[in-house]
Amino acid sequence: MASIIVNDVGPRDGLQNQRKILSPQERIQLVKALIAAGMKHVEVGAFVSPKAVPAMAGADQVLAGLPATDHGVFTVLIPNFRGYELARDAGAKSVCTVLYGSEGMAQANVKMSREQADQATADTLVQARQDGIRVTATVAVAFECPFDGPVEPDLVQELVARFLQLGADEVAIADTIGAANPQQVRDLTDLLVRKHGAGRLSCHFHDTRAMGLANVFAAVESGIRKFDASIGGLGGCPFAPGASGNVATEDVVMMLEQMGFDTGIDLNRLIKASTLAQNLTGTAPGGRSKAWLERHLAKQNSK
Ligand code: COA
Ligand code: ZN
Repeated sequence: MASIIVNDVGPRDGLQNQRKILSPQERIQLVKALIAAGMKHVEVGAFVSPKAVPAMAGADQVLAGLPATDHGVFTVLIPNFRGYELARDAGAKSVCTVLYGSEGMAQANVKMSREQADQATADTLVQARQDGIRVTATVAVAFECPFDGPVEPDLVQELVARFLQLGADEVAIADTIGAANPQQVRDLTDLLVRKHGAGRLSCHFHDTRAMGLANVFAAVESGIRKFDASIGGLGGCPFAPGASGNVATEDVVMMLEQMGFDTGIDLNRLIKASTLAQNLTGTAPGGRSKAWLERHLAKQNSK
């Protein structure tokens, strides 16, 4: 059976925008619930300015509280080279840097130009290779920017090609504000997979306009085999007006499993993690499939 990797970004993308700030202990509890469900890839926090994003303070404590495992990839987001150094010193083995499809988003998110952000990732790649740390470069606002409007696919293609060439372990295509439609996704991912293969590509969708799952499907059809998703549909970027939650992990996993892909994730336990996310935050909507899954799994479990 073909496999697809789902990377849960709830503890980072999800929690960064919540009114309620969770303690490092609560965030560890959420990550552990995801691990218990069989998730091997989790974005567990961000080494960003605590003034800019108070909810991510204490990412070092989150990393320190996670079980040492050879099987899990715990990634942390870094906005700049300073973030890289802090993450490395806290023991991170996998980092995610951010490239931008627009000038407006780079300025709003990290007070840098696009070019400065490119340089920060390029510098990180050089250092990370020496340090033996894995790097994912995410192209934020890869389809549309809330400030500058639609993004040219040529620009995204150029960024992907350049950073794969520079040695990024992975390049993620992110629809940060949930503005893409499945045809756009299909057109872009078809081109990228044809040119680079799918091995180092992944996609990240938000569900702002209910197209998150359709966009995942479109990218699967192109051959993409790794996706970000967020437990309970938590999420949104504090610096991208109008961005709502990521596509929910339970919805993505259910769809992929029903389509015959192996995600390695136990839906029974994933639903428990989703309920924990809802209880901890008070705001996680829960995936659209959650109520159905709960009924269906309860029936199955009672047999
Ligand atoms: N982690 C923690 N602190 C950091 C940091 C990092 N990665 N980078 C810089 N800082 C600190 C500086 O040391 C400085 O501290 P001080 O005030 O105690 O001297 C302070 O932040 C300001 O530094 P400066 O370089 O002037 O930053 P800035 O005010 O221009 O902000 C960022 C730039 C990148 C630090 C900030 O905008 C940020 O963290 N953004 C993250 C946005 C985000 O997470 N978005 C969602 C995910 S994509
Ligand atoms: Zn996002």
